[in-house]
Amino acid sequence: MKKDYFINRRTVRNYAKKQIPEELIDSILERAMRAPTCGNMQLYSVIVTKDPANLERLAKEHFNQPAATGADVILTICADFNRFTQWCEASNAKPGYDNFHSFMMALTDAIIYTQQIVTIAEMEGLGTCYLGTVNYNAKQISEILELPELVVPVASISLGYPANEEEEQCERLPLDAIRHKETYHKDSNEYVIELFKTKDEFEPNKRFVEENNKESLAQLFTDIRYPESVNIEVSKTFMDLLKEKGYIK
Ligand SMILES: Cc1cc2nc3c(=O)[nH]c(=O)nc-3n(C[C@H](O)[C@H](O)[C@H](O)COP(=O)(O)O)c2cc1C
Repeated sequence: MKKDYFINRRTVRNYAKKQIPEELIDSILERAMRAPTCGNMQLYSVIVTKDPANLERLAKEHFNQPAATGADVILTICADFNRFTQWCEASNAKPGYDNFHSFMMALTDAIIYTQQIVTIAEMEGLGTCYLGTVNYNAKQISEILELPELVVPVASISLGYPANEEEEQCERLPLDAIRHKETYHKDSNEYVIELFKTKDEFEPNKRFVEENNKESLAQLFTDIRYPESVNIEVSKTFMDLLKEKGYIK
């Protein structure tokens, strides 16, 4: 039976030293443009980084995580109202896209485009990894990529042919945790604990908790992976970038 891509997919962080042909990258980026887009405005741009020196600079802003340092290509996908605004101005139409609502439209477009790239790339046999670190150093990444007004990096993905060893597929919550029928159903603490058992009992998670001397997986998230202090700092620097790029006053 043919393997179901969606059931079997996983992130790949280790890449073989093999170049992805430029035509394949362009073909993926072009096919991904068939993704739905708000008002058919295509409020996104993608910066393709392939040059080793530029990859090194970019990887540094992704905290040199292995998926970045070993990547053949890093794609930075930007929420982009610049091109559309320019077209309006050049066509005697008055644009009004320097506001937060416009950023949300462009952000949504950019993320949908990104996931379409990921799906097509993986179906072509490539490995991909989102680099959430794009949010942490969005300003520095904007400078490296020379992004103009109304262009903000919102997603990064590393691409490469998978190294030989297949990475272990990780756990998910049961459908019951995320699907609500007709109206939102708030579960009891006991049931939420039960639902998260898939995560608590996943061996690599248990090891991670132990290595970090934490009592639980939840503590690993709150104290180490996504602590409040970092969340607040990243929120602030990202809001500053939105101001600098003209999306908020
Ligand atoms: C917004 C976002 C940010 C992510 N950031 C990182 C990252 O910085 N480094 C990394 O190794 N994986 C990153 N990932 C990949 C997730 O860790 C991965 O999707 C998750 O653990 C589930 O694994 P799977 O994709 O193999 O099912 C990110 C994924 C998303 C959607």
